[in-house]
Amino acid sequence: MSLKLGDTAPNFTIPTTAGDIDFHQWAGDSWVFFFSHPADFTPVCTTEMGRTAQLAPEFDGRNVKPLGLSTDSVEEHLKWIKDVDETQNTTLEFPIVADKDRTIAQIYGMMHPGESETAAVRSVFIIDPNKKIRLTMTYPMSVGRNFAEILRVIDALQLGDKHRVATPADWTPGGKVIIPPSIPNSEAESLFPNGWDEVKPYLRYTTV
Ligand code: BEZ
Repeated sequence: MSLKLGDTAPNFTIPTTAGDIDFHQWAGDSWVFFFSHPADFTPVCTTEMGRTAQLAPEFDGRNVKPLGLSTDSVEEHLKWIKDVDETQNTTLEFPIVADKDRTIAQIYGMMHPGESETAAVRSVFIIDPNKKIRLTMTYPMSVGRNFAEILRVIDALQLGDKHRVATPADWTPGGKVIIPPSIPNSEAESLFPNGWDEVKPYLRYTTV
């Protein structure tokens, strides 16, 4: 059974480059960007790990902890991190899970046998402080992820939680947001003092 949005992210205890972690305890009150990659010492993965490390201040500023995973060992991860730091001009500090027997990758649906029998694909799970899965994305092995999009969806989720809004196509921070149809105009008046632009009764733009 695959994990769905709104499910509680399954807990696990596992070795990582920062020692053994209990996932839920480690996450604490933070959001988590949990992402798998196929293998250490591979080119696309090296750039993704470097990008995640470079974006540490962006993740911190959003109260998000990155957590990588592949089916390699801690020793391999630690050797590879030196390459990541050297080639991507960064210092990788977030933990990488060593899921040697693929237990976590199986639970999280990161194994896609059509792509590989042994290596995880590029899965993304955005998990909120209540440990609920709020977003999933799955990329093939040959395509590196877009980290601007990862930060954008985190911004959209956090803004939506704070203001009870939805975000339109291609929204970026500062852009107009949408009042969900579940909020009637009578309630919207107190929630959105800036007013709104009613294009259709079901399409109301506002700013927050
Ligand atoms: C890579 O990270 O470069 C990669 C890993 C597995 C298959 C293809 C590319």
